[in-house]
Amino acid sequence: MCDLMWWMTVENERRLLFWMSCVIIIVGLLSLVGNIPASYGRYSSPAWGRLIDARFTWFMQELPSFLVPVALWLCSDVTPMLPNRLLLGAFIVHYFHRSLVYPVLMKKGQPTPVGVFLMAAVFCLCIGYMQARYLLFAVYPDSWVTSPTFLCGMFLFTLGMAVNMHSDHTLISLRRSSDDVADAVYRIPEGGMFEYVSCANYLGEMVEWLGFAVACWSLPAAAFAVLTICNLGPRALHYHRYNLLLLLLLLLATTVTTNTIAINTSTSFLQLLHSMLGPQGQTFGSSFIMIHCRSGK
Ligand SMILES: NC(=O)c1ccc[n+]([C@@H]2O[C@H](COP(=O)([O-])OP(=O)(O)OC[C@H]3O[C@@H](n4cnc5c(N)ncnc54)[C@H](OP(=O)(O)O)[C@@H]3O)[C@@H](O)[C@H]2O)c1
Repeated sequence: MCDLMWWMTVENERRLLFWMSCVIIIVGLLSLVGNIPASYGRYSSPAWGRLIDARFTWFMQELPSFLVPVALWLCSDVTPMLPNRLLLGAFIVHYFHRSLVYPVLMKKGQPTPVGVFLMAAVFCLCIGYMQARYLLFAVYPDSWVTSPTFLCGMFLFTLGMAVNMHSDHTLISLRRSSDDVADAVYRIPEGGMFEYVSCANYLGEMVEWLGFAVACWSLPAAAFAVLTICNLGPRALHYHRYNLLLLLLLLLATTVTTNTIAINTSTSFLQLLHSMLGPQGQTFGSSFIMIHCRSGK
């Protein structure tokens, strides 16, 4: 089988992976310093271009991180050793789920601007290429799969993935039907790790890629972990603040039903909320905010 990267020398590709990892780390650190949540989901804004259905963008943008490693592996001249196969397999399993399963399970939510979608697709392409090429050629000692580094890393990876998937499922279940735009409202999630943190899905994702970086002990995997933490950490803080404001709204609630509190918000109140929620504000899917309370509380 012909290696897809036959046109690049090993030395040049090693340098390329090094510089790509540096760029990924710098981009991550810049987004951490900028502290502006990416414009999708609840921060979606047409300022970044035409808005597209998020289920389509998640499928298309994440697909390169699944297809590129699979293609590079299948077309490679080398037969990867056991540690390489396990690590690359773990990466591919995550992106199989993220690109092919997650978008099917998702309900219709806030659409994604085309600019953000294209940026995400480019990052997924780069990340998929970097992890696959590094892991196809990395030389690990025979004992790597029984070393504490590998075992701890894979434990964290698996734990993080389980938390991430369970929490994503919890969030998805908060909305009733897959196409009900009027249902695109935010509710307080509960259960699992949401009992302890506001963004259990992000916590899971961060732990997952931290574990992957430990298990790989490589610069490309560390760069991806840094990017993920720098991206999702501050976004989680914004969500936490957002949840606190929703709870504040609860205190100001005007209409109370069984276990649902519907808050009729006047335009001026919404504007006040927009200015409090962050630099880009938030467009709600409906003219009221609905918060589901825990029954009995
Ligand atoms: N590795 C990385 O760098 C990276 C980067 C980004 C995301 N991810 C992962 O990709 C997955 C999705 O990320 P995301 O940023 O889209 O997550 P998110 O903002 O938590 O949203 C996930 C889904 O749940 C809905 N949702 C969120 N909070 C809700 C609430 N309180 N009430 C009702 N519905 C709610 C969202 O709807 P709306 O779309 O309408 O808000 C969306 O459909 C996560 O597992 C995340 O860890 C990874």
